[in-house]
Amino acid sequence: MKDVSLIDLAGGISSALDYISPAVTGHHRRVGLGAVALASQAGIPESSLVDLLLAGLMHDIGAFSMDLALDGLTFDSDLKEHAVVGYRLLKEHPFLERASRMVLYHHTSWKDLRVIRQEGDRETLLLANIVNLADRIDILRRVGTSTRERREVERAVAGFTSDLYAPKLLEAFRELADGGLFWPLVEDMDRPVREMLSPNLLDVHISPDELIEFSSFFTRIIDFRSRHTATHTAGVAESAVLLSKLAGMSEQEQKAMRLAGNLHDIGKLAVPTALLDKPGALDSDEYVKVQDHATVCAEVLRSIPGLGEVADWACQHHERLNGKGYPLGLTGDQLSLGSRIMQVADVHTAITEDRPYRKGMTRERAVAVLRSMADNGFLDPDIVNLIIENHDRFDAVRTIVQSRALSEFRRFAEAYR
Ligand SMILES: [Fe+2]
Ligand SMILES: [Fe+2]
Ligand SMILES: [Fe+2]
Repeated sequence: MKDVSLIDLAGGISSALDYISPAVTGHHRRVGLGAVALASQAGIPESSLVDLLLAGLMHDIGAFSMDLALDGLTFDSDLKEHAVVGYRLLKEHPFLERASRMVLYHHTSWKDLRVIRQEGDRETLLLANIVNLADRIDILRRVGTSTRERREVERAVAGFTSDLYAPKLLEAFRELADGGLFWPLVEDMDRPVREMLSPNLLDVHISPDELIEFSSFFTRIIDFRSRHTATHTAGVAESAVLLSKLAGMSEQEQKAMRLAGNLHDIGKLAVPTALLDKPGALDSDEYVKVQDHATVCAEVLRSIPGLGEVADWACQHHERLNGKGYPLGLTGDQLSLGSRIMQVADVHTAITEDRPYRKGMTRERAVAVLRSMADNGFLDPDIVNLIIENHDRFDAVRTIVQSRALSEFRRFAEAYR
């Protein structure tokens, strides 16, 4: 594990958000890049642009927690709630505190911001208005991408009043569009976000320890989307760390294992909540969508330089030694100890925790299932044995972290009843 850049990290998170529905593919990415372009053109100092980028890349994250249909996020519907949820999710972390305030106001009109503006931090509110405008432009952009349709969008933006957007932002958009600079920037989907930004942009380098801390915070965003998975990640990460210790991994590796455990289901951001919550069996289309989370995980984590083996450990948790897993059907000789540990930690946590359609298994039943999976070549028998031989320890650590996660979730969910 090496240092990771905050821009790369946010770019990865936004790409997971952007998978969720074809109607919004690339939305967060375009809003992030569009917002930065508008801000530079409007003369906002570069020192503020990373926070603005983070806000743009994650602005609708609250909608994911509430399972609002993103395709329906039009300008006129009631949008305040997802903005508040997004703010509450992000504000807890120092890296995201300023961005969270932009997210809070990303659907508030310039006129309404004026009242709040009197209380201070005017620049953050202007930046929130930039996210708002970039978001609005991206929604308008759905009419199509021909030159004629582009002009249509530009005309619509030119018609916005100063009640909605700060005049200098509308001006900045007009200048960028007239110069032919805006659309090519937001439409480029291939290059990593960082390459599209000025190299002077002040990035933040996150050390491995800070990243682990950030990932623990981020598990809440992954898990709180469904009350049925609200404590899953905490349980998997804790079990994986204990397994890595018992398997003789170094302290550095145990840390990497915690990070991998915290991130293993990051791809679930791209799975509709209705499927995460669905009682009973999934049909085959739905099953494919849920399985996608493993592919999304790999794409997201491999796009963040510095994570090293953590990406494999995290994203191969549904592979099986006998080749019957997904997404790639890798076999034992291709799966490292770290990946095998994550597989066992994930299965053990999943079968022993309560789900919408069933209670968690008893210890005896769980042992029987793990044993038969090991006997049939799905899971590594040595790692399964570590769980069976140390069952009390596993139960103890998991109970502690999962009940802590559950009470945090209850506190969070209470506000939205
Ligand atoms: Fe929004
Ligand atoms: Fe949006
Ligand atoms: Fe999974």
